[in-house]
Amino acid sequence: MMKMHKIAVIGGDGIGPEVIEESIRIVDAAGKKHGAQFDWQRLPWSSENYKKTGHMVPPGGWELLQQHDAIFFGAVGSPDVPETVTVHGLLLPMRRKFDQYVNLRPAYLYEGVPSPLKDKAPGSIDFLVFRENTEGEYAPIGGRIYEGMDADTAVQVSLFTRRGCDRILRAAFEAARKRKKILTSITKSNALTYGLGLWDDVANAVAKDYPDVKLRHLLVDAAAMDFVRKPETFDVVVASNLFGDILTDLSAMVTGSVGLASSANINPEKKFPSMFEPVHGSAPDIAGKGIANPLAAVLSSALMLDHLREESCAAAIRQAVAQVLKEGKTMPPDLGGKSKTREVADAVLAAL
Ligand code: NAI
Ligand code: MG
Repeated sequence: MMKMHKIAVIGGDGIGPEVIEESIRIVDAAGKKHGAQFDWQRLPWSSENYKKTGHMVPPGGWELLQQHDAIFFGAVGSPDVPETVTVHGLLLPMRRKFDQYVNLRPAYLYEGVPSPLKDKAPGSIDFLVFRENTEGEYAPIGGRIYEGMDADTAVQVSLFTRRGCDRILRAAFEAARKRKKILTSITKSNALTYGLGLWDDVANAVAKDYPDVKLRHLLVDAAAMDFVRKPETFDVVVASNLFGDILTDLSAMVTGSVGLASSANINPEKKFPSMFEPVHGSAPDIAGKGIANPLAAVLSSALMLDHLREESCAAAIRQAVAQVLKEGKTMPPDLGGKSKTREVADAVLAAL
């Protein structure tokens, strides 16, 4: 029997809705072919809506989201609305409220996509980053005193818990076990000895449960070098919230463009809906021009389909994207072409 997946859609701001709507057309087409159905509930939550109603998330909004199997998200952020309202009012609380502690960000160099690194063969860069998504450096803990005065002082606390480290490390070990069995744990525990010292201890303890996986420890500054110098040596990478965030912008660039970088915010226990979004933001500089690369959102939809156990739909979409990139006839401006958002999506549909 065909399963109907209930998906909450938050296009958000800027190019968010542009890339999300194109992805929905593609998911529906893949579903039609591979026996899956989707019930999309579009929620108008955005900066515009905030200006009209005074809230990013309307009353009852979180409960509404929770009734869905997944959340498909574009981006929020607008030059005329504070980030404390948009990013801190919707995106970051969602990750914590729904305990989406795994932020999965694949890095893959597709054939036909130029890398700024020379002599990298297609597929030679192929790794998964597991970023801790609910604590670490992004825990909203701290304070500010004497703001604007000479004595202006801020305290920003990083939060590392044994439970928090354990569960992201286990998720990464599980993924490594299904791949090349090499897990790189990236920290800065030589300088941040308390929080990341705990992280290292937990990593070494969890490693005992995964004797088949090789655990490597790497400091984040060395990792930044190696993401550029020898990215082909990574298989699965696990890092804290801040380091994972920064390193995945780097991995997006060495694999071509942020316009191809996909991500999943996963609650592995499925107690809450997981959320799928392109890594990029609302890109106000190109919003409304119809030139955003939709493929980061399209590839994020494939991660969503994996999570919903519609693996054949996901594989079909990835293959169609790979074909479009390989042919190179329909490339968006960020990949050196002239094609519009719509045309790129149409090419993926044709390849499907
Ligand atoms: P951004 O990712 O929106 O844009 C950075 C650069 O990449 C821009 O030059 C943009 O034109 C380009 N770019 C991004 N996505 C692209 C695509 N699909 N195709 C072609 N080019 C693309 O990051 P920025 O400018 O720092 O942030 C803009 C707003 O987005 C801010 O308000 C920020 O807070 C928000 N933001 C939201 C995120 C989210 O909702 N998950 C993530 C990152 C930023
Ligand atoms: Mg980022």
